[in-house]
Order: sequence, then C-alpha cells, then structure tokens
Amino acid sequence: MNLLRFFPPALMLGSILLAAPGGAAPQTIKPGETWPDDRGRHVQAHGGGIIKLGDTYFWFGEDRSEDNDPGKRYVACYSSKDLAHWTFRNQVIKLSDPENFGPKWVLERPKVFYNEKTKKFVMYMHIDGPSPTSDPRNGYALARVGIATCDTVDGDYQYLKSFRPLGLESRDIGQFIDDDGSAYLVFESRPKRGFYIARLSDDYLDVEKEVCFIRSPLEGGAIVHYDGLYYAIGSRLTGWAPNANKYATAPSLSGPWTEFQDIAPPETKTYGSQSTMMIKVAGAKATTVIFMADIWKPKTQWDSRYLWMPLEIGGGKLWLPEPRPWTLDMETGEARIVE
Ligand code: DGJ
Repeated sequence: MNLLRFFPPALMLGSILLAAPGGAAPQTIKPGETWPDDRGRHVQAHGGGIIKLGDTYFWFGEDRSEDNDPGKRYVACYSSKDLAHWTFRNQVIKLSDPENFGPKWVLERPKVFYNEKTKKFVMYMHIDGPSPTSDPRNGYALARVGIATCDTVDGDYQYLKSFRPLGLESRDIGQFIDDDGSAYLVFESRPKRGFYIARLSDDYLDVEKEVCFIRSPLEGGAIVHYDGLYYAIGSRLTGWAPNANKYATAPSLSGPWTEFQDIAPPETKTYGSQSTMMIKVAGAKATTVIFMADIWKPKTQWDSRYLWMPLEIGGGKLWLPEPRPWTLDMETGEARIVE
C-alpha cells in the first residue's frame, strides 16, 4: 500500500489509519460513487467550495440537475456536521442570463465567503461565455467573476455584478481563507500563463490586492495552510479531461513557491479527477486535509462524481493516496481507510 510511499514513519500522516472491520464507524465517504443527499438524490455541488459556520459545513457548487431549466444556471447549497451526510438546503442561485451574456453563458465554480463586518454572505463565481468580439467557438472568452450576496447562508443570493479581477482575465476560481480569517480569491489567468492569489476587499465585494502570481498554467486552484507551510494544488488546462494535478509549497502566500510536482502517479490523471478545494479538519488527535475534486462527466454533467480523499501531507510533501472508501472522525480528526 502506498501510504508509506514518500513518507518516513515520522512524517506519516498522523491522520490516516487502517480501520478494523466492523465497529460503530462514522458514515463512509466513497470516492467516485454517487453521493446521495438527505433526499436520496446525488449531491449537485460540482466545482464546489465549503465554508464552516460554528460546527456546520456548507457545501456550495454547480447544480447540474438534469431537470434544470437549460436557460438558467443553478448553485445548490448543502449542510453537514460530519462532511459525509449532506442535507439539501436550497438552490441558492437560479439565475437567468443576468447581463445579456448570451444563451451559452457559463456559471462555474461558485465559492461563498462570510464577511464578519457586513454580516453578508458573498458568492464569487466564474462567469463566462462567447464574446461578441472573439471567435464564437470560444465559449470561455468573457473570463470574468460574478458576485452575488445574501443575508443568510442558504437564502436566495442576489446577483450584483461581474468584472475582471485586477482587470485580468479570470477563469477557474478557488477560495482560500487563512487561519487568521483573511479571504483570498485564486484565479487562473491564461494570457499570463499562471494563476493569482489575490486578497478580497474589506467588504469582499472586490478583489483588492495581488498577493502572488504563480507562473504555472494551472487551474482548479486549491490552497491549504498546514503545519506552517502553504500547499497549492492545480490541474493543467485540458478542458473537462482529467490530467496529472500538481502541487507546490511556500512559507508564505506571497512565495517563494517551489516547482510543481505530481500529487499522484501521473498515469492515473489524478484518478480521473480535477482539484477544486482542500479542507483542513483539526481534531483532538490529528489534523486531516481532504482533497476535494470533481470527476467530470461532460455529456451527463448531473452525474459528475466527487473524489474526496485524505491527503498524505507534511514536511513539504503532499500525496493523494489511491482512492478507497474512508471515514472521518470529527472529534479526533482522524481519517480511516475502510478495509
Ligand atoms: C476546466 C475547468 O476546471 C472546469 O471548471 C470547466 O471550466 C472546464 N475546464 C470546461 O472545459
């Protein structure tokens, strides 16, 4: 088994253990399988993001339900206390083309931030579509972010505006909230062949300051702060097709960042998935970092799956173990592979 592959025992995860069969186990997370919500329907939160309020996690993502109105774009919100059982809360966005972007307009990768000062929930989304001034075959020419806000976490979000962050083309977005609560947008910028980490304004309604530009053409940007180091994961630019996702580390968000390295055997193409976020769960005994990724099914998007796995992480190394069913103990923070 590969848990020890790159890790001397001292570095070994602290968090991934092998579970004995039987026993009162928490709910199993099954990478790649359908993930039923409390209604028994497959969770629709693709390209998603998660925030934690009190002891509750809220998962937002693209709702690609087959019966959605094809003219609208949807974002769904789910809640959970254990990251395994998800309760459907609301389709928080049910939006008709808000700025005459055209019938092929795109809303992807929604991320919600809670602003303590304004008490508003602020959603960022990748807004795109063909541009009247570019090749109509390019469905991602607008390259903007949109913002919607709400007074409650799972209410109906009101669309406010779209713009190019820092005046730059922006496609895939990621969110990062540091341990001190500061909020960052991660966005891929193709003309620059890299991605930005940028700080949000005080009210979160703007992208204020470039913190770092990482010159590596990667999207699906995800960042975690673990044991004194920042780890960033991204995927190469291959559309819906999976590729070998990579990671780099830095002592500070502003860098310097190491070279990017594979997070999994490259021939597996990240086990058919693409990064969207990392979540850190700190318990009484261990801190587990979960890799959240999408297994896209571009022709049947509603059936796209999720690959969530605890990462092997520490000392500047990061590795995605081969996906297997696992459980997470929210008290101890320990992840267990189900044998
Ligand atoms: C890869 C991105 O990560 C997805 O969110 C989506 O934009 C696809 N490209 C579209 O091809």
